[in-house]
Amino acid sequence: MILEGDEMRFVDGIVDRLVNPPRGCSSERLRAEVEGKTILVTGASYGLGEATARLLGAAGATVLLAARTTEKLDEVFASITVGGGRAWAYPVDLADRDAISLLARRITETHGPLDVMVNNAGKSIRRSLDLQQDRPQDFERTIDINYLGPVRLLLELLPPMRAAGAGHVINVSTIGTRITPIPRWGSYQASKGAFDVWLRSVAPELHHDGVRVSSLYMWLIHTRMSAPTAIMHRLPGLHPNEAADIVAKAIVERPATLQPWWLRPAGLLSALAPGVIEAGMRAMFRRSSDSDSARGVRP
Ligand SMILES: NC(=O)c1ccc[n+]([C@@H]2O[C@H](COP(=O)([O-])OP(=O)(O)OC[C@H]3O[C@@H](n4cnc5c(N)ncnc54)[C@H](OP(=O)(O)O)[C@@H]3O)[C@@H](O)[C@H]2O)c1
Repeated sequence: MILEGDEMRFVDGIVDRLVNPPRGCSSERLRAEVEGKTILVTGASYGLGEATARLLGAAGATVLLAARTTEKLDEVFASITVGGGRAWAYPVDLADRDAISLLARRITETHGPLDVMVNNAGKSIRRSLDLQQDRPQDFERTIDINYLGPVRLLLELLPPMRAAGAGHVINVSTIGTRITPIPRWGSYQASKGAFDVWLRSVAPELHHDGVRVSSLYMWLIHTRMSAPTAIMHRLPGLHPNEAADIVAKAIVERPATLQPWWLRPAGLLSALAPGVIEAGMRAMFRRSSDSDSARGVRP
């Protein structure tokens, strides 16, 4: 039976609701939690970071927006402040250690200890080993932006938070760090995994000082990041606003981890039948290909 038109959309809708059940928290709860608080959102110029910054700004937080693209930061800043919200734009390249230091100093001098830090900025690369053979820069870029940059930033932002005995660090991680690694995403997943492991390893120490840590394992979000991979367009994923609701839920509830409901059974399956998952990954590699952008072909 071949489904078409409305039937196809109906089935897609059911699959989407199963994979991505509605999440989040009420706007009243979010407002009660964040009003008057200072929240840094890295990667606030696009995608999930942009949606999160707008949501938090509308809920009464003072939102510190960090990313490289100044025009986009200005746009997000204006969208928050035009409605009476409070925002500050901080252009920064997280691969530049001096710029990170400067950002941390400016934040602490101007705002004092942060209430919440949303570590969201990220760089993903999907490329086969064949194409990465002569591209050590792929590994350097992902490690710089996804691991070393946020570690450097937190090494400077955490001391005032710990001294104040409060604060919350939210890491936007990926399910790729929790399941069998997916072919072609190696450099990205390794760098996201490095930060995820580091942050969870210092979480008990931070908890002792009153600083909480939440790790969010995100599934597909339809953003600029996932756009170059054609198969992603056909998979049920989250709108950036839906993913921002998950960040909001984490801010309100402060769980150690948040992940899709199906990640646990998937983990169980890979523990019970590793051969099946490995065969699936080999098939996935054979049946997929590098995108035009991974090959360096401009659209
Ligand atoms: N999209 C997905 O399917 C998916 C799935 C799981 C997890 N995630 C995670 O979700 C987070 C947000 O991703 P997204 O999908 O919203 O991607 P996106 O739309 O590409 O946004 C990435 C953000 O990171 C910023 N960024 C990138 N490089 C930077 C640098 N060197 N310095 C400072 N900021 C930088 C970008 O801003 P500028 O370019 O302006 O600097 C942008 O604001 C990432 O951590 C990603 O790993 C995404």
